[in-house]
Amino acid sequence: MRTQVAIIGAGPAGLLLSHLLHLQGISSVVLETRSRADIEATIRAGVLEQGTMDVLTAAGVGERMRKEGALHHGFELAFGGKRHRIDLHGLTGKSITVYPQHEVLKDLVAARLAAQGTILFEVSDVALHDVSTNKSFVTFRHAGEAQRIDADFIAGCDGYHGVSRPAMPDQATRQDYQKIYPFGWFGILVESAPSSEELIYAQHERGFALVSTRSPTVQRLYFQCDPADKVDNWSDDRIWAELHGRLENHDGWKLKEGKIFQKGIIGMRSFVSTPMQAGRLFLAGDAAHIVPPTGAKGLNLAVSDVKVLTAGLVEFYRNGGEALLQTYSETALKRIWRAECFSWTMTRLLHTFADATPFEREMQRAELENIVSSPALATALAENYVGAF
Ligand code: FAD
Ligand code: DHB
Repeated sequence: MRTQVAIIGAGPAGLLLSHLLHLQGISSVVLETRSRADIEATIRAGVLEQGTMDVLTAAGVGERMRKEGALHHGFELAFGGKRHRIDLHGLTGKSITVYPQHEVLKDLVAARLAAQGTILFEVSDVALHDVSTNKSFVTFRHAGEAQRIDADFIAGCDGYHGVSRPAMPDQATRQDYQKIYPFGWFGILVESAPSSEELIYAQHERGFALVSTRSPTVQRLYFQCDPADKVDNWSDDRIWAELHGRLENHDGWKLKEGKIFQKGIIGMRSFVSTPMQAGRLFLAGDAAHIVPPTGAKGLNLAVSDVKVLTAGLVEFYRNGGEALLQTYSETALKRIWRAECFSWTMTRLLHTFADATPFEREMQRAELENIVSSPALATALAENYVGAF
């Protein structure tokens, strides 16, 4: 098989890249280890920045998002017994949309298949070869057969645990940056109407909690937990007691309960691997960087990487120019570092650190008070949240 761009991974980064390239007349093949049903059912991100919505709309895959997604003009910060609204739209002129990542994936898969795009699901043994030359290729197994794709470029969009980042040449000279947090998030999906029209990010001495939604009949709730804890240690009653305890000291607001139909624990890390390119191999999305979910940036960063990479590939195929491709990593990393900074700031502000001194706890509280008392600080937070840069 031969294609212009071999794409490893059918997450938001890989599928969107494939579709944006197609719209510019550039061919690609997407390789994915999981099944279509599996990727379309995995519960992950929910928050789309305006810029992400604009990219999806321009790519012709925004119709269901606009119809079924919920536009949010603000969110609430809850601490010290009170809720404080951050007026995203009032402060920045922009809003965010809550629309689940797996719905974005369904829209992208449907668009790729409708355009006769090639996505090979359930592949195995994916290996990248000769990425430093312009004769790079990928080998893998699909439907029981060993296969090979020759490509001008390889896009590593295979997430944090993928094979592309380890296949980058010159491993010894690469620079990785990492911070692992001493807590995780316990996430649940609940059959009930939303408890709140807007997201609530709550700081509490028992730990952080987040109230989000998925639809008019499904709530998405998270709370800070030990990353090594087990889902089985948490009965429904214990989960509700913890959420009520962390969320309901705020102005008489009440959390709605319902049937919990999904539970999971995620660890939290900040991670950046540089550079994001070597020879003909380019990394995009979680393959190159991870943010803790508190800032809701992961999916949005995958989209912004892909936008930058598409511009570089389009320039190359239009006139042979490589200027944009050569600066891909540098351009993408500018935004990535700012999102890393914001995600770390939100995480630090809102979580309970077991080893924090009484002084550090007061500093955390004072920082939150500063934000909700100062339009300048609230605007800076809102700009970062909506991705107004
Ligand atoms: P992925 O989505 O990880 O896709 C990579 C794909 O590659 C996967 O389908 C994988 O199966 C495939 N793959 C792996 N290895 C191989 C291989 N060897 N060969 C072929 N294919 C391979 N982000 C936000 O912006 N907003 C949020 O609100 C938010 N909330 C989150 C909540 C949770 C609970 C979690 C876990 C994440 C959240 N994120 C959020 C982060 C967001 O989900 C990720 O940043 C996003 O999925 C990154 O997309 P990606 O395409 O880079 O990688
Ligand atoms: C959701 C996830 C996040 O990480 C976040 O900051 C806000 C909302 C969600 O899954 O709805």
